Amino acid sequence: MRVGIPKEILPGERRVAATAETVKRLRKQGFDVLIETGAGAQADCPDALYVEAGAEIAPGPEVIWTETDIVLKVREPGMHPGTGQHEADMLREGGTLISFIWPAQNEALVQRLAARRATVIAMDAVPRISRAQKLDARSSMANISGYRAVVEAAQHFGRFFNGQITAAGKVPPAKVLVIGGGVAGLAAIGAARGLGAVVRAFDTRPAVQEQVESMGAEYLTVEFEEDGSGQGGYAKVMSEEFMEAERRLFEEQAKEIDIIITTALIPGKPAPFLLTEKVLENMKEGSVLVDLAAEQGGNCPLVEADKVVVKHGVTLIGYTDLPSRMPNVSSRLYGNNLCHLLDDMGKAEGYKVDEEDDVVRGALVLREGELKWPPPPPKVEAQNKAPEPKSAPAPTPAPAPKAKKSGGHGHDVGGEPASPFTLILAGLALLAVGWGGSNDFLSHFTVFVLACFVGWQVIWNVSAALHTPLMSVTNAISGIIIVGGMLQVGGDIASPAAILGAVAIFFATINIAGGFLVTQRMLKMFRK
Ligand code: NAI
Repeated sequence: MRVGIPKEILPGERRVAATAETVKRLRKQGFDVLIETGAGAQADCPDALYVEAGAEIAPGPEVIWTETDIVLKVREPGMHPGTGQHEADMLREGGTLISFIWPAQNEALVQRLAARRATVIAMDAVPRISRAQKLDARSSMANISGYRAVVEAAQHFGRFFNGQITAAGKVPPAKVLVIGGGVAGLAAIGAARGLGAVVRAFDTRPAVQEQVESMGAEYLTVEFEEDGSGQGGYAKVMSEEFMEAERRLFEEQAKEIDIIITTALIPGKPAPFLLTEKVLENMKEGSVLVDLAAEQGGNCPLVEADKVVVKHGVTLIGYTDLPSRMPNVSSRLYGNNLCHLLDDMGKAEGYKVDEEDDVVRGALVLREGELKWPPPPPKVEAQNKAPEPKSAPAPTPAPAPKAKKSGGHGHDVGGEPASPFTLILAGLALLAVGWGGSNDFLSHFTVFVLACFVGWQVIWNVSAALHTPLMSVTNAISGIIIVGGMLQVGGDIASPAAILGAVAIFFATINIAGGFLVTQRMLKMFRK
């Protein structure tokens, strides 16, 4: 099977659908690879690198469109300046195209491709489910946009991002406001924090707060309660009252903020209007605003798409080609997304457009000319069966679940615990037996039974996620056990108390050593 990669034709587009690295992966998947000469020149991939990776170089676009089974592209097909033909018409009859298509906005293009009986897979329509993350090209590109937005802002900002105290004077850190904490917003927070700025962020979905804070930014809120979570993890359109409160918040923040990076979007809708002219008036001279939503109308109507303009002393950046401004990394990540998709589709040998596959079905726009878009909602993955309520009568006694291994550390924290009722009964029985013995025995046993009961209550109320730290903490308890054991071993070495003491020392020592080992391993996981 042969895949073809044409040179992108949109003016200013520097990306390419495969780098030398991804050509190697395609070759491993069993594909023959044909690349148009100069296709990767602007992404630091000269023809020689492709040849070294195992690709063939085609002298022009015609061979790519007519003599390959699958055409891999970045941008949707357009009018070719060299051939004077539309790329959709250049595709061979019954051929396959995988690229960004935006079928909702490009109905005429879809019809044009349908006339070629084409099979078309839109990378922008890959469903956002966990399994599809590695081929989610929208996320790969949004991540790059967020990062690049900070770099563009830095280019136009006349100060450091980090605060500095030098002999020549003190410079405070830049204050950055990121609006929208989706993929691009989080990447922007990461980049701005990395440069040392103080970062604040806002989003309408409450789930974002934790993500923003974990990136080291301060999360802003408005005095208005409304949950912005819509379907599929996306935002929904907010009420006008909320939007007003949000605009007022940004107007207030603008007095302190040096750089605004706004990324707020709602799928299928124009970008929400968030930044008024007053925001620009309130910002200091020399401040910068980057609007990543400029292509969808912008979060600030004063920003002009694809341009840099200065209004009220604030530089407004409306670039819509941010991933293309980092062509090497964006081509590499996009190429990887394509390779993952082809992996999912069975590589060269087992290649199949499987409509049972949620990912392929979601992204399928045309199948041999037949319209397949929009797709049906993805099948919901079977959820784990909810555990039966403990009080439900079991028809047959079920075998007790196996206790979880605790990594060599002396506690078995999983499994079905004995009920407190059983423990109390057992305790009472032991007390009754001990009654005949000495008073000492009785008092020790009372302490023992109470310790079992309190221990049971404490340990089993700790959530499973905290079992490992809990085990580390039990080192302290093991230490007390060792001291008690040592006091017992001191007397007659053959007495039952001394033997029990020795056993207690042995197990408590395993517990302590295991605890250090597990803690050490956990710490290693967090060290870079
Ligand atoms: P997006 O580009 O559609 O929107 C960007 C951000 O703008 C979102 O966080 C949204 O909540 C926010 N926003 C919308 N209206 C706003 C307003 N009025 N004020 C402030 N913020 C506003 O979103 P993106 O980045 O494409 O992804 C959104 C979510 O989708 C992710 O956070 C994640 O939950 C989910 N996702 C899932 C993936 C997967 O499972 N494969 C992959 C990528 C994203």
